[in-house]
Amino acid sequence: MASEKTEQQRLFFALTPPPELAQAFNHMAVSDLQDCRGRPLRPDQIHLTLRFIGPVDNHTTACLSQAAESISLPRFELRFDILGYWSRPRVVWSMPSQIPATLSTLAAELEQICVHCGLAPEKRAYVPHLTLLRNARQGPAIVTMSAQPWPVETFALIRSETLPQGAVYTELQRWPLQ
Ligand code: 2AM
Repeated sequence: MASEKTEQQRLFFALTPPPELAQAFNHMAVSDLQDCRGRPLRPDQIHLTLRFIGPVDNHTTACLSQAAESISLPRFELRFDILGYWSRPRVVWSMPSQIPATLSTLAAELEQICVHCGLAPEKRAYVPHLTLLRNARQGPAIVTMSAQPWPVETFALIRSETLPQGAVYTELQRWPLQ
């Protein structure tokens, strides 16, 4: 008899850029960051992780989804204007030089929700970054970029799957900011 296995999904909370901004980040990765010799993320893969969750069962997914309903925070704006490189994961990233207080609050509230739903607390400090290239051989020669404003009006719960064509992200649910 086949054993009953609880279905697990690999999840994370994130912000996704408006389509034209996702295109601009991808264009930057493809053209201006060529020297890094990495793999640019496609526009549909570009996101800002708010809280990585990892594999969870359907019960936990339902708990996270219900708890996220209680978040009531104002809209805010991000400007990604710094570029950098982490040599161990070989990732070229962009970060905002100014971190809006609401972004930190949103990440902190999602952390509380995750713990409320039974996940282990995140030990590492939250470092908001957008991955632009993976498997990069070196960091970018340029360290600043002209930042287009990213109006943040929603946040999302996203499923991550590793398929032959690379990481595929599927939005499960989206919540508005006020
Ligand atoms: P990265 O872009 O820096 O790799 C989906 O995998 C998202 O969750 C990615 O943005 C990824 O960050 C992040 N992520 C993946 N594994 C993680 C982990 N163990 N801890 C924190 N974030 C992780």
